[in-house]
Amino acid sequence: MDSKSMNGGPTGLQPKMLRDVFGRPLKDLRISVTDRCNFRCTYCMPAEIFGESYQFLPKGEILTFEETTRLAQVMVRLGATKIRLTGGEPLVRIGLERLVAMLAGIEGIEDLTLTTNGYLLAQKAQALKDAGLRRITVSLDTLDDAIFGRMNGRGFGAAEVLRGIEKAEKVGFHPIKVNVVVQKGVNDHTLIDLLRHFRGTGIIVRFIEYMDVGNLNGWKLDHVVPSAELVRRINAEMPMEPVEKNYRGEVANRYRYLDGAGEVGFISSVTEPFCGDCTRARLSTNGKLYTCLFASEGRDLMGPMRSGASDQELEEIVSAVWSRRVDRYSETRTSMTEPPPRKVEMYQMGG
Ligand code: GTP
Ligand code: 5AD
Ligand code: SF4
Ligand code: SF4
Repeated sequence: MDSKSMNGGPTGLQPKMLRDVFGRPLKDLRISVTDRCNFRCTYCMPAEIFGESYQFLPKGEILTFEETTRLAQVMVRLGATKIRLTGGEPLVRIGLERLVAMLAGIEGIEDLTLTTNGYLLAQKAQALKDAGLRRITVSLDTLDDAIFGRMNGRGFGAAEVLRGIEKAEKVGFHPIKVNVVVQKGVNDHTLIDLLRHFRGTGIIVRFIEYMDVGNLNGWKLDHVVPSAELVRRINAEMPMEPVEKNYRGEVANRYRYLDGAGEVGFISSVTEPFCGDCTRARLSTNGKLYTCLFASEGRDLMGPMRSGASDQELEEIVSAVWSRRVDRYSETRTSMTEPPPRKVEMYQMGG
């Protein structure tokens, strides 16, 4: 391929084809819009650590919507076509719909979506839809209220989240996905019930293998239920067949029920890592760029931006970081002999 076609053709209007050391382009940008959350999931922000007096980022150290939009534009010029808003819990960021509208206006973005715990969704769904958000993913680990209350660390039942999902359907988000983190002995015996609830609704349930993100959840490999085992268990009750991925780099392996009642996904980041196709960059609430969910360090972009860096200079910083990127944590996890260096927490950099 010559340099013209690498750059997307002779018009020169296409983004530059930035690649990392393994040839992976930057295609997805995940933006954490707040480090705060109204839940205290045991696997992410355990309540005993994140108590009333825990110091989250002060307002001045959080990217403004204008700054976030500017950095998103820089990433789009470097190849990003998909933006996912995350947190913390994105819906606790006041006025989030204004940011959604600003991002929706960026030319070149083909997919604009958000991952939420759903607790404030019933209240926010219409405003988000009106602002230009196209689809939504809701985290919901079980329909068993007692177990859910323990997992979310706040004693909240599933009803409010289900109300949020219903509202999201009503205002027209499509497709809606439900993310379920599976922990052995905690919620894995409740998953068939959850699938039965969503079968035939068009909502896509996806099971995520519990991961060793951050440093606080006491993760052990034997807390993980391998997706292959889940597939076997589900197949015994509701037969399924595998389906092709929607796009290269999709993190979920897809299955569909043989009786046509819909689709189920499996995100097997522990037993079948997908680093080879990983095109995700993460922008933290305080403006750092991370090139892996398991990173220990990020590149500060807020500092240069607030000291007057031009768009061109910001592009150069991001290009330099991405072109040196060698991350493949999940592929090397089990062969590591040393404990990994202190990782940045998932709620800070964006799940
Ligand atoms: P679609 O765009 O709907 O395909 O979803 P997505 O791939 O953006 O998935 P989503 O953001 O819902 O991610 C689901 C979960 O997969 C995340 O919450 C993480 O737990 C996990 N995940 C996503 N990206 C990565 C990644 O880059 N590395 C690892 N190890 N896990 C990831
Ligand atoms: N392992 C797997 N998934 C996790 N999530 C948060 N922490 C973990 C973990 N340790 C998921 C949430 C949500 C998304 C943002 O990340 O449940 O779906
Ligand atoms: Fe909040 Fe999501 Fe972390 Fe749970 S996993 S504490 S909902 S950010
Ligand atoms: Fe990408 Fe890092 Fe996840 Fe691998 S472990 S898929 S490199 S974010």
